[in-house]
Amino acid sequence: MKGVLLAGGTGSRLHPLTRITNKHLLPIYDRPMVNYAIEALVNAGITEVMVVTGGTHAGEFLRLLGNGHEFGIDRLSYGYQERPGGIAEALGLAERFVGEDPVLVMLADNIVGGSIRPMVEAFCANPTGARILLTPVEEERHLRHLGVPAFDESGRVCGIVEKPSDPPSTFGVTGIYCYDADVFRVIPTLEPSGRGELEITDVNNHYIRQGTMAFDVLEGFWGDAGESIDAYYAVNDFVREHGANKA
Ligand code: DAU
Repeated sequence: MKGVLLAGGTGSRLHPLTRITNKHLLPIYDRPMVNYAIEALVNAGITEVMVVTGGTHAGEFLRLLGNGHEFGIDRLSYGYQERPGGIAEALGLAERFVGEDPVLVMLADNIVGGSIRPMVEAFCANPTGARILLTPVEEERHLRHLGVPAFDESGRVCGIVEKPSDPPSTFGVTGIYCYDADVFRVIPTLEPSGRGELEITDVNNHYIRQGTMAFDVLEGFWGDAGESIDAYYAVNDFVREHGANKA
């Protein structure tokens, strides 16, 4: 399985910090944010990785990560997104790198306390369709900043609403997704959303309509350090006290 880490975007919710660097290079406790996502992939057994980034600080990723060997990566590639056209657009840049293999996609501002290996193993056992990782979220205010799944009577995910004003469940969709290579046939069919981006939620809803979407519920801590300045500090506090990526 290949891994794709998405580290582009504008990071506008963390302005002015992100005027002077890329969000994923900001520190989380004692390391740059992106290091935690790299570690999550390597701990899950993924050693061929592409980092997609953009903007004026893209070169810093090469300086930080180099060829990836220091972090346990065998093959590290880089992609450059010309403008922040959305998560799905950024993933599309990895098409040739991924080829016909299954792929794990992780947003590089997501940080987990435990391991994503169970999800990766479940997808590798049957690498068709898509698989998303959900996390329980109690606060409605928080859910309104996320993708939120709706469930049918049999407990299957029957749709995902992006940043809902009226959340259909108390689970958030984390930025950690598994796809088969069909995802690269789905992305070119997407229309830009109201905010002018190709949305990963539209990709996921495509798989849901097709009946090929599975999900897992993450055990332990999950944080999106790019969601707001308060979320950034909450993730920092958690990692400082408990660490991250504990197997
Ligand atoms: O973190 C989980 C949430 O991530 C999900 O619940 C949502 O369904 C999903 O849409 C996403 O929402 P965000 O509002 O957090 O997405 P954001 O625009 O902040 O982008 C998240 C990451 O994706 C960011 O860290 C970098 C990468 N990205 C984003 C854009 C817009 C890119 O690489 N290129 C882009 O053009």
